[in-house]
Amino acid sequence: MTDKIGIAILAAGLGKRMGKNLPKPLVGLMGKSLVDFPLQASLNFVKAENLDAKVGIVVGHQKELVEKYIEENYKDANSSINFPEQKQQLGTADALRSYFTDCSWASDTDYTLVLCADTPLLTAHELKALWNEVKTNSLDGACACFREENPKGYGRIIRGDRGFQIVEEKDANAEQRLITEVNSGLYLLKTNYIVDQLKNIESNNSANEFYLTDSFAIGQNVSALSFAESDPFLGVNSPVQLERAGKLLRSRINEFWQHSGVEIIDSSTTYIEPSVKIERGVVLYPQTYLHGSTTIGENCTIEPGCIIKESHLAQNISIKAYSYLEQARIANDCTVGPFARLRKGSDLAEKVKIGNYVEIKETRLEKSVSVSHLSYVGDAEIGENVNIGCGFITCNYDGESKHRTVIGKNSFIGSDTQMIAPVEVGESVFVASGSTINQNIPSFGFSLSRARQVIKEGMASRFLKGKWSIRK
Ligand code: UD1
Ligand code: CA
Repeated sequence: MTDKIGIAILAAGLGKRMGKNLPKPLVGLMGKSLVDFPLQASLNFVKAENLDAKVGIVVGHQKELVEKYIEENYKDANSSINFPEQKQQLGTADALRSYFTDCSWASDTDYTLVLCADTPLLTAHELKALWNEVKTNSLDGACACFREENPKGYGRIIRGDRGFQIVEEKDANAEQRLITEVNSGLYLLKTNYIVDQLKNIESNNSANEFYLTDSFAIGQNVSALSFAESDPFLGVNSPVQLERAGKLLRSRINEFWQHSGVEIIDSSTTYIEPSVKIERGVVLYPQTYLHGSTTIGENCTIEPGCIIKESHLAQNISIKAYSYLEQARIANDCTVGPFARLRKGSDLAEKVKIGNYVEIKETRLEKSVSVSHLSYVGDAEIGENVNIGCGFITCNYDGESKHRTVIGKNSFIGSDTQMIAPVEVGESVFVASGSTINQNIPSFGFSLSRARQVIKEGMASRFLKGKWSIRK
């Protein structure tokens, strides 16, 4: 029979030291919120172990914000996530009591996994190790612990012949404070056991809090599982720890992609958010920032200083230095940049070329279109093989609404042309340089709209002044 497991994520603390006007679980990290990491780790773990799981996120401070965030971001898992409320932050045992009081299903589970919302480096790997420890040894409970040379702030592990106890920093004597084996705050417990223990926990300690750590004791059938690495348990209580967590997370993500065949020239300056996907043969130069749901196909090259958000790149694409892409879609064999900006709705078919200082927005560019220099193309449809000269502008906005520009295939648009939308140009049209186009041009037409050039011999002297004046 599959085991039933309840997951309690403790997230009711104030997180005062973060100095943000946000509940700590929602503090941002790599495009996500702190609470996402332990939640995702537990969802991954229960899926891999095929466990019957429900989640209770214990909320308190600004609870509406946490609930709203989870409801919006976990639509699939939503029905199995509850939000027990801890009205007053009386300690971690009290937080777990709220979980059992408010989650009707919690006491009917076989096991209870307890995590803190502020440990973003935790993965399914540690949860699985703890699970194996409890199952293999038929324990009533286990806590994950590790060695910390500077154990300040952590609960210390005191081992007995059987069982162990945890002494909080505030309550520890001088000798106990020297102990470097510390409590991570991650626990797996038999539900019957913890429900029983919670009945007896009191707050007669120096913090006057109900400590969850008091559910372990010497003589009990519980164990402290020692992990060789402390990084996975890093708790984020301050901006300094938030930065450290970000760095660790970044190098973990970068190493994962390096092992999957991605070349990263300088990992220390490469920022890849957790939900990005990258194929083999991709080269990332320094100062690359890849955000959100971005996907990068095989053999793309991203030159230095590019920022790519929520965009989809197919294969063999070259994004040249200092380009900024947002919600763009790019087909095979395109080149973009340097210094290009692809805004929302930029949709490039194969072999499109976008050059320097070009901005594209809500525009479909068909195969082999070239917009190589200094142009703005917004709310447009540009047909196959169109060449757009330097300094082209779609005048798409009349101060009230946006209008569309359509250019048919095989047309040639001369430099310094403006198209005042709405306007439609047919296929194989030639527009002369410097034209302002506000009337539709039929296919195979030629259009020119500029004043005729005037030449007056010798008249320059009337205009050339100062150091330019003509001395004869
Ligand atoms: C806790 C452990 C300590 C361990 C450390 C690891 C206790 C008593 N101590 O201490 O042994 O070494 O974690 O990081 O458990 N929370 C609530 N309601 C409360 C209090 C806390 O929901 O009333 C939540 C917090 O939001 C946080 C988690 O519980 O996510 C841990 O609380 P925190 O105050 O950070 O505990 P520590 O003092 O770090
Ligand atoms: Ca903590």
